[in-house]
Amino acid sequence: GTADIGVTGLAVMGANLARNFARNGYTVALHNRSRARTDQLVAEHGHEGTFVATESLEELVASLAVPRRVLIMVKAGQPVDDVIDQLIPLLEAGDIVIDAGNSHYEDTRRREAALAQQGLHFVGVGVSGGEEGALNGPAIMPGGPEKSYEALGPMLEKISAHHDGEPCCAWVGTDGAGHYVKMVHNGIEYADMQVIGEAYDLLRRVGGIEPAEQAEIFTAWNQTDLASYLIEITAEVLAQKDEATGGPLVDVIVDEAGQKGTGRWTAISGLDVGAPVAAIAESVFARSLSSQPHVREVARRTLAAGIESVEAPQPADREEFVEDVRQALFASKLVAYAQGMDMLAAAAQEYGWSLDLGTIASLWRDGCIIRADLLDVIMKAFGGRDTDRHPEPGTRAEGQPVNLLFAPEFSQAIAEALPAWRRVVATAVTAGVPVPVFSSALAYYDGLRADRLPAALVQGQRDYFGAHTYRRTDRDGSFHTLWSADRSEVEA
Ligand code: 6PG
Repeated sequence: GTADIGVTGLAVMGANLARNFARNGYTVALHNRSRARTDQLVAEHGHEGTFVATESLEELVASLAVPRRVLIMVKAGQPVDDVIDQLIPLLEAGDIVIDAGNSHYEDTRRREAALAQQGLHFVGVGVSGGEEGALNGPAIMPGGPEKSYEALGPMLEKISAHHDGEPCCAWVGTDGAGHYVKMVHNGIEYADMQVIGEAYDLLRRVGGIEPAEQAEIFTAWNQTDLASYLIEITAEVLAQKDEATGGPLVDVIVDEAGQKGTGRWTAISGLDVGAPVAAIAESVFARSLSSQPHVREVARRTLAAGIESVEAPQPADREEFVEDVRQALFASKLVAYAQGMDMLAAAAQEYGWSLDLGTIASLWRDGCIIRADLLDVIMKAFGGRDTDRHPEPGTRAEGQPVNLLFAPEFSQAIAEALPAWRRVVATAVTAGVPVPVFSSALAYYDGLRADRLPAALVQGQRDYFGAHTYRRTDRDGSFHTLWSADRSEVEA
């Protein structure tokens, strides 16, 4: 065969990736479980490039040039395993199987190990940017064996988004690293969306600002250090009028947020690797809470409201309130990024990946859902993009801050936002407007910088009921107090 790549699974993401390859001059072999989709794609978009329609996976594989590159774009989970099982007997050592779906990184690790046994390269690739991105240039986060990148990387880089001429695609690390990085991208995406939601809720319920006017505020914010795709689309969603009622569309959308799993996985993995990703986790919990309509209905009827009237800001200070909310949003968002980056570093240690945080941030500057001006600053804070920089797993490249918030530009920015951030959280708490991510992010910041944490007391409690011992501030060693005897201290 002569085709450059085969794509199996032609639902919208697979079809758009296939078209993207074809538009970039590659010959793309197509396969779908039901032939109709393949025919439809060729009928509608055949003129965009060179496609080879195939009937079966056998035919797909036979149509490919060696080393064969087969990209799987089917629903995450068992369907991926099913396709892999069918492909293995058809392939030869050195061929490359690519999973571009939102697969769980543990599945990717397992599949990579299994295919390596057969001499096959299995590459889990994170792809972000939704349908548009898949067609016109997504952010691409490939993992898998580094060697596979020689034959695959140039093609992925060609179809990816570009920022200042640099592809938003680079090999990020072995086995499941690509899917892990994409998962963390989605965790940050959840938090970013939630903090925007919290800002909207405050502007509306405390500031009394209607969606149409908020659309203008968000448009203005998009000219500040908040500039990002998510802020931009928020303005558009808020400006949208509902045809049926004539009111804002947002008012007729059921307020129960869906989720397909990647945010939840991020929170779970944060717990697993011991990274405090509380702001990201709170954004997942916020979606879960919203999606319990029956509990919420009972709660509205039975739980007392308490004091919740906060005087709406007068027009004179309204501008100040809006600016306060903007700063709280920025600071909270920064914390979510810091937590995401921190968990990447923890996971690198856990799974033996060499992750370069500067390069990873560079991949998110364009094409993906969290694309934002801020990512260029984050990239620079981590020493910029250097795709040849592969730090020892669990270590950072020289000069990279241990926490994003410690980079001078960010510690300074947060210090400046801090008074507004505190005022906004205090106002929200007093007014009874839930701001789980604003407040959790602030607690994280205050927790990080505290002189002393009540963890000392927790250690005392643990020692009391379970003889778990504690360390002392003034001496080396582990100690235990004989709580049920004479309460003297012994060295454990
Ligand atoms: C992207 C998106 C994409 C998708 C996620 C989030 O980066 O292009 O993250 O992968 O929208 O699956 O979906 P949920 O909000 O449904 O979890």
